[in-house]
Amino acid sequence: MIDLHCHILPGVDDGSPDLETSIGLAKVAVSQGITHMLLTPHHMDGVYFNAKNSVIEKTNAFQTALKANDVPLTVFPGQEVHITGELLKAIEQDQILFADESNRYLILELPHNEVPEYTSKLLFNLQSLGITPVLVHPERNQGFMADPSKLYGFVSQGCVTQLTASSYVGVFGEHVQKFTEQIIDAGLGFVFASDAHNFKGRNFKMAQAFEKLEKQKGVRFAEIYKENAKSIINGDDVILGEIHHIHEKKRKKFWGLF
Ligand SMILES: [Fe+2]
Repeated sequence: MIDLHCHILPGVDDGSPDLETSIGLAKVAVSQGITHMLLTPHHMDGVYFNAKNSVIEKTNAFQTALKANDVPLTVFPGQEVHITGELLKAIEQDQILFADESNRYLILELPHNEVPEYTSKLLFNLQSLGITPVLVHPERNQGFMADPSKLYGFVSQGCVTQLTASSYVGVFGEHVQKFTEQIIDAGLGFVFASDAHNFKGRNFKMAQAFEKLEKQKGVRFAEIYKENAKSIINGDDVILGEIHHIHEKKRKKFWGLF
């Protein structure tokens, strides 16, 4: 199992504060069945700035520590990049870490309280550079909650979404859980990730989420979510059509307009 989003690189953001905590969190990840993990500290969000080279160095050091502690987890350097007007310049200057080595998939965070006006244009500009934005936790974005057609629009435009496993199993409350289910039903979710920060609350929950997905959507659907995580980290095509096909009828019902 691959986790594309977590904050367990020690001491770089609001996730794990130190190596000891990170090793402990990595052990929880392994107990959940996670074998590979993209480390995605917050970047350019107005609070944290985790430069590409520094993340690479720290990831290498963390990998060495994991080996020394006999934790069977392979980690890759990444960033959770916050949407900002500076993003295109940062990409041009090679300051951004993508989810894959071919610089195709960009782990992109929107503010929680809205979808900024310039989002659509920025996404389009990224896509015209051959980049596929992976919009993280749309299920917790108040702008998408108020107007889900915006999410439909971005996915139709070719963006991918990543849903937080803990949202799906109710860690952020019933409202977020329900919206996560609706996004999945509408065929607008592609992959789960943990977005793990700590031991309590914002933990992994990947095993629980996949168990629930299998129950609600079937084994094949859950497999697609797992395959998509692998495709994203390898820079390959994600599976879109099959998800849309499986839930076409439900999507039409939920997204009344479409
Ligand atoms: Fe995150």
